[in-house]
Amino acid sequence: MPIKEQVPHEKGIDHTIDMSQEGYLFIKNRVDKYKSDIFETHLLGEKSICIIGEEAARIFYDSELFQRNGAAPKRVQKTLFGMGGVQSMDGAEHLHRKHLFMSLANSHHQNQLSKLLMDKWISSVSKWEDEEEIVLFDEAKYILCWTACNWAGVPLLESEVKERAEDFSAMVDGLGGIGPRYWKGKIARSRAEEWIGGVIEDVRSGKLKVEESSPLYAMAFHRELDGSQMDTQIAAVELINIIRPIVAISTFIIFSALALHDHPECKEKLLSGNDKDFEMFVQEVRRYYPFGPYLGARVKKDFTWNKYEFKKGMLVILDIYGTNHDSRIWDNPFEFRPERFKERKHNLFDFIPQGGGDPAKGHRCPGEGITIEIMKASIDFLINKIEFEVPDQDLSYSLERIPTLPKSRFIMSNIRRKV
Ligand code: HEM
Repeated sequence: MPIKEQVPHEKGIDHTIDMSQEGYLFIKNRVDKYKSDIFETHLLGEKSICIIGEEAARIFYDSELFQRNGAAPKRVQKTLFGMGGVQSMDGAEHLHRKHLFMSLANSHHQNQLSKLLMDKWISSVSKWEDEEEIVLFDEAKYILCWTACNWAGVPLLESEVKERAEDFSAMVDGLGGIGPRYWKGKIARSRAEEWIGGVIEDVRSGKLKVEESSPLYAMAFHRELDGSQMDTQIAAVELINIIRPIVAISTFIIFSALALHDHPECKEKLLSGNDKDFEMFVQEVRRYYPFGPYLGARVKKDFTWNKYEFKKGMLVILDIYGTNHDSRIWDNPFEFRPERFKERKHNLFDFIPQGGGDPAKGHRCPGEGITIEIMKASIDFLINKIEFEVPDQDLSYSLERIPTLPKSRFIMSNIRRKV
């Protein structure tokens, strides 16, 4: 009888601390060490199976084999996701809720958002011209918060923008944090849910009139599969599930600015670039730089993959960052090279910065089109609408911190409009 090959099993009681110390590279470090795209470890006191790569993503997105309910740790739900949102749903209820998100992220909405955003970027320049320097990450957060709320139909006073933007940002930052970072994210979420819940109630009662085509209206009056109206708190969670990630695109904008700074040849190309050049650059930023680290799901029924027996209820973690840097998929993955996207064949499982599979049928992010258009508009603004200097600063970022950013948050000085 042939000896059954063993899937590597990491020794030790629990590796949650290693994960929080190694950050984005936790899975990749072990995959490289064991030379296996699957290994077993213990995280948060539970046996966990870590997987990486295209084939791994393909099984992870098989909704016959995996479910999301019960997969996300409570701490992630209390900061990033919110309780009762689309991320933890399965089956027909999930698809029905997801349809709502897909309809709010279509090309019409993408265009609306990128136009609103470009106008806001441009109108902000005169203020910056009077300042010695600005921190791009902060400005991007505020501008995106203003843009997202205006687009969604959520009333937001100019005086409130900073505070609300910081709350959306803190929910994302709370994701990998313990102690103060976690608490900041949790408090920010409670405050935002109370605010948005109040706005939804005002729309439902008629106190606040909004256009029927707006995301706020759609969320307020969405009917569940059984015909009932969403609970106010859940409607708030879901509206936040659109506004928060739009604000989070500030991270990709900062990494885009960093890439333009580190690769002047790319900037040169985009100065006279067409849409395809912008597209390739944006895709490479989303592949190369770290943002979403891992995804978790639970096994729905027993099955075998790669000689490993997955048992119902097991926790499985898919490595996003590692798959986007998998040398079986990407030639020299740690090189920033937008041209790699020139002839690339469409594949739903090998490039997964915002998840894999078909977004209408599974959990892949519905907001990739929005993300790409917002990034393109912001890069166009940085390259073609303004001139600026990049003073000395620490632009390094740590792969150990989740989520991460260049330490200086990208400081710009001597900003002026291009004539
Ligand atoms: C900064 C850019 C973004 C990143 C890095 C990102 C990343 C992700 C990732 C990794 C997932 C999980 C996929 C999965 O569970 O399989 C996800 C899901 C989701 N994203 Fe995004 N996202 C971004 C922008 C957006 C935008 C602009 C929207 C607004 C429409 C959005 C809304 C959502 C929603 C609602 C889900 C849950 C989908 C589901 O569970 O079915 N995201 N995103």
